[in-house]
Amino acid sequence: MTNLPKVIFVLGLPGSGKGTQCQKIVQEFGCVHLSAGELLRIERSKPGSQFGEMIEKHIKEGTIVPVEVTCSLLEQSMKKEMEADKAKDTFLIDGFPRNKNNMDGWQKEMSHKTDLQFVLIFECTEKECVERCLSRGEAGSGRTDDNIESLQKRQLIRTHISSTEPIIEFYEAKGLVRKVNGSRSPDEVFEDVRKIFVGLKKK
Ligand code: C5P
Ligand code: MG
Repeated sequence: MTNLPKVIFVLGLPGSGKGTQCQKIVQEFGCVHLSAGELLRIERSKPGSQFGEMIEKHIKEGTIVPVEVTCSLLEQSMKKEMEADKAKDTFLIDGFPRNKNNMDGWQKEMSHKTDLQFVLIFECTEKECVERCLSRGEAGSGRTDDNIESLQKRQLIRTHISSTEPIIEFYEAKGLVRKVNGSRSPDEVFEDVRKIFVGLKKK
């Protein structure tokens, strides 16, 4: 009998639809959505945060914040949600683990405190992802990294794919990877996502 928080990692290139699909999953299945990038953006903006400047530098450069910071933000958020409402025990963790450092840190600190259900991956072409991020920037996402320079620095294909490859392999070997074609409209993508979540949890 376990009452550890259930975790689903949500991965995919920036613009692959992680945030959009997570919102839909929350509405239909009542999970809690935690975006690693969003938690870092919030921490960065907290007055007096000792990590603010360091986080901003990583976000602008498109590099990855050391796992200790990200992991502790994720752990604090899960605790807070579960303390407020015990039923909120299933977490969609979007944008994490992003590289081997993220994964190793999670394995060491969090894997025994959580119950990983599966890893959901949105597959989307680089071209489509860049276009989506640029139009998100034009639409006023307010994100300092939705611009062509940061996107280029993020080196979408090479950096992101090469750094998430070992993660996907690791979880694939455990039979935990679920891939969805994200190069379609949000509703079409969600049709496939729904099939994966049905049976996991009803609202
Ligand atoms: O996932 P998202 O595009 O919101 O991430 C924005 C930025 O947050 C990344 O480019 C990176 O600098 C930072 N980040 C991180 N570690 C993660 C996820 C995001 O450092 N696991
Ligand atoms: Mg996001």
